[in-house]
Amino acid sequence: MKISIASDHAGFELKKEIVAYLKKKPGIEIIDMGTDSEHHSVDYPEMAAKVARSLQKQESERGIILCGTGIGISISANKFKGIRAALCHDAYTARMSRAHNNANVLAMGGRTTGKEVAFDMVDIWLDTEFEGDRHQRRVDLIASFEQD
Ligand code: RB5
Repeated sequence: MKISIASDHAGFELKKEIVAYLKKKPGIEIIDMGTDSEHHSVDYPEMAAKVARSLQKQESERGIILCGTGIGISISANKFKGIRAALCHDAYTARMSRAHNNANVLAMGGRTTGKEVAFDMVDIWLDTEFEGDRHQRRVDLIASFEQD
């Protein structure tokens, strides 16, 4: 599976840990879209856009995005058609974001989430299938709002 990943400066350290973690997992290809330092401030909407456009162009199937809280970068990613970015904080929210919401982007906060919790979330998020059925109807409704 191909995964695009990006963060702002506040998410950089956790992104670095996640990239190293995912590189050890078989069958995963990472497209790291930056940023590359915690010392130079970058705007999280720009980083969200890189991952969102990468999914829209089908360069990757999933995205992972990080800022300080995960809030700004998830709000930004969700402005892009076809993107369902879920800000998750633990194993349960990561699992449900896949099972019920078919989230194609996982958002996390570099200043709110520790790396071991983040690794668990990433594993569960990658392994959990969308349940479809009534949840498909709801995801379709979300998509219909993209015409508004
Ligand atoms: C950057 O200081 C911070 O505002 C950003 O990383 C993020 O937390 C915004 O939602």
